[in-house]
Amino acid sequence: MKVLIVGSGGREHALAWKCAASERVSEVLIAPGNAGTAREPKCRNAAVDAGNIPALVELARRERVGLTLIGPEGPLVAGVVDAFQAAALPCFGPTRQAARLEGSKAYTKDFLERHGIPTARSRTFTRQDFDPTWLEHHSLPLVIKASGLAAGKGVIIAETRAAARTAIDAMFAGQFGAAGEQIVIEEFLRGEEVSFIVMADGRHVLPLATSQDHKRRDDGDRGPNTGGMGAYSPAPRVTRQIHARIMREVIDPTIAGLAADGTPYAGFLYAGLMIAEDGTPKVLEFNCRFGDPETQPVLSRLRTDLTVLCEAALCGRLDTVSAEWDPRAALGVVLAAGGYPDAVRKGERIEGLERAAALAAGRGKIFHAGTRLDGDAVLTDGGRVLCAVGLGESVSAAQRTAYELVEVIHWPDMRYRRDIGQRAIARERRG
Ligand code: AMP
Ligand code: GLY
Repeated sequence: MKVLIVGSGGREHALAWKCAASERVSEVLIAPGNAGTAREPKCRNAAVDAGNIPALVELARRERVGLTLIGPEGPLVAGVVDAFQAAALPCFGPTRQAARLEGSKAYTKDFLERHGIPTARSRTFTRQDFDPTWLEHHSLPLVIKASGLAAGKGVIIAETRAAARTAIDAMFAGQFGAAGEQIVIEEFLRGEEVSFIVMADGRHVLPLATSQDHKRRDDGDRGPNTGGMGAYSPAPRVTRQIHARIMREVIDPTIAGLAADGTPYAGFLYAGLMIAEDGTPKVLEFNCRFGDPETQPVLSRLRTDLTVLCEAALCGRLDTVSAEWDPRAALGVVLAAGGYPDAVRKGERIEGLERAAALAAGRGKIFHAGTRLDGDAVLTDGGRVLCAVGLGESVSAAQRTAYELVEVIHWPDMRYRRDIGQRAIARERRG
């Protein structure tokens, strides 16, 4: 069987690598992919943009692709799965309607409230119905969110009412284009953030290994928000008890609620959750896809054939399969270009990849994100460039391996956080 992976980041490299490891798979195509997927055994990049839905359908038809997985949210929210379904091509992901869970925060808040799923208290406004006096009655900080897709930049945590007002005015003035036509204002939640990612088939759910990422750019969780500077799995914060609560209070009612609303959800579903001190989970956001960089450590631990799980999901039979995990922890450190998350310089030559690959054998892997090939050289080509994943008996051991790999990689303005996994490691030390 041929598999098609849509996207070009570290998540897509990990998906391609995992699918290529399956004996059932003859070849993995990645549209458009990166230097890492170009060099991966059994993999081939196809020069089709992830946003070009008709060209993706045509590629899958021409190459007789048996299974397509979509990495990024853009094409999902735009209806790529609907287009594949219309062409009778198997594609694992939510339909356009179901992907609104990520595409519209206003819709999601309404959905969560209607179904009694725990989340921060909130109000949704458009420019026409916004009432500035409303801000006076709410405690600070206030969280201001553009409702639509804003590439991870549409959330402002305002410490003062003046800052809240400035953020709101900028969104209504078009800072995020149509994504800011509606805004959600919500209460600030305290606690520890975890990523809870599951596979769903419309009715059944298969939870994947737990994970946690680091959204802020700088050490000590400081600096601007990013797509994620590193992630690890498992997340020790998610104890067995908290896991059961998340399934019962968040995931099961979400899947049941979507089915009841006539928009059943199939695909990877990522719940960004805040876990309060007492273990209560609340939904911060949903993503209609696998996380990046969570995919890299999570799939590094998956022992089951991913294509078998996806095909079971496509037949509505997720209840008949289970996932087996490497008991070791995995930890990924993102290597970014200077300037990220703002504009970055591209085209720098990356050194040390072969040495890192040799060091990683059997205990880690370097996943590519913003890279491209130039003859034999690998050049930087984006903000998040690589993700070095290490495995180990504990999160601390996995962290040591990951940083050993990072040490041998180099380009002039390479940047990374030196404290990925710190919270989990502190927890391990406390026992
Ligand atoms: P979102 O895109 O909605 O996940 O928001 C981006 C980030 O902002 C989250 O990962 C959190 O770190 C933070 N955040 C969002 N909503 C809240 C909230 N209600 N309280 C505290 N932090 C939040
Ligand atoms: N790591 C956060 C995300 O994938 O949205």
